[in-house]
Amino acid sequence: MLPRNRFQALAEIVRRGKDGGYYPFFRALSASSGPEVEVDGRRLVMAGSNDYLGLAHDPRVVEAATDAARRWGVGPGGSRFLCGNTTLHETLEERLAAFVGKRRALVHTTGFVTNLGALHALAGPGDLLLCDEESHASVVDGCLSARGRLSTFRHNDAASARAKLEAARSKDPEACFLITEGVFSMSGDVAALPDLVALRREHPAAVLYLDDAHGLGVMGPGGRGTAAHFGATGDVDFIMGTFSKALASVGGFLASDDEEAMTFLRHQSRPLIFSAALPACCVAAALAGLDILEREPERVECLHRNARRAWDGYRRIGLDARWSGSPILSIRIGSEMAAYRFALELFERGVFALPAVFPAVPRGEAIIRTAYMSTHAPEHIDRVLDVLESVADAHGLRGGRAAGEPAVAAAAP
Ligand SMILES: Cc1ncc(COP(=O)(O)O)c(C=O)c1O
Repeated sequence: MLPRNRFQALAEIVRRGKDGGYYPFFRALSASSGPEVEVDGRRLVMAGSNDYLGLAHDPRVVEAATDAARRWGVGPGGSRFLCGNTTLHETLEERLAAFVGKRRALVHTTGFVTNLGALHALAGPGDLLLCDEESHASVVDGCLSARGRLSTFRHNDAASARAKLEAARSKDPEACFLITEGVFSMSGDVAALPDLVALRREHPAAVLYLDDAHGLGVMGPGGRGTAAHFGATGDVDFIMGTFSKALASVGGFLASDDEEAMTFLRHQSRPLIFSAALPACCVAAALAGLDILEREPERVECLHRNARRAWDGYRRIGLDARWSGSPILSIRIGSEMAAYRFALELFERGVFALPAVFPAVPRGEAIIRTAYMSTHAPEHIDRVLDVLESVADAHGLRGGRAAGEPAVAAAAP
């Protein structure tokens, strides 16, 4: 029998949260239109979704997914390696590679397993995997499962990465993976990519790996991502993206100019070989999302206008938040209990935004993660601001600490 003390502490926390009515996770939506959702018969403004361009409900995307389901069925019947690969997968790979400015792309079933499969396969036994300390769990797990040595550098701090790289020199690693997110999923911070690019140029063994889950469709000209935003595409060795955010579907990909590495990965990424393929309907949805993104780049501008409108409100209210030029605006709360209560009150007043607590953020640094969409109407944003103002008032959280014109000055699309 499994030792009970393995589960009891967490089970007790969940029980207390549910009994106290403030447990916020796994809320079941009975309907969604994108910027609005329905829970228990109540309509709320969604202020925490990663569907940044609102494409998940676009009729063209829904139609493409439906057509693909009719043509290929809803299940893939096997891994891509064997019998689950379709012409749609291959088309999407070509289109994604061209979109982010790389020669090759490889589609996986989720962003999570893209990182897992890629980092596990690409890193050799003597390598150093150096990631930003706020890296997503999929990056951390990918590094932990890889044969190289995992180390972290301080968040968005290239000087810290440099020190770690220099220190590793004595061990003479064959390759040093420098890993960052383009837009950090919790804080919304934009990567200090130019500094990491400079570091990569100085160190011949350095390989720059960019998880751009939240940058694709959001940053850069036409939403081409954070590398494009900084004009650094040629200096980034691997760009990872997902379809579960701006591309309205589910799935993920890795892109690179290194054709041999990509062929290697196509045959060595374990989730690609040993797990079922992404169903054609999800591929078709991502492809339709990409079509729309390419044809309607104004959606990206609208997204940033909406984020800016929200940010102006946060500043006026005096929330403890920071502008970084992305549509993710995180409100610092501190204690987990205070964040749970804050989120509950938002929910009761018609706004859906969730707290992020340890391990998604450091202990004692709980936040309310808000995120905006291009399909939010001004009225949606103003409603969120009204509610935030009254809840922040009630919690004594209008300290005026919201600050900072763009930390990354040129962080418009
Ligand atoms: C930075 C980052 N990388 C990877 C992922 C995993 O992506 P997916 O949801 O497609 O599995 C996420 C998802 O939240 C993420 O935020």
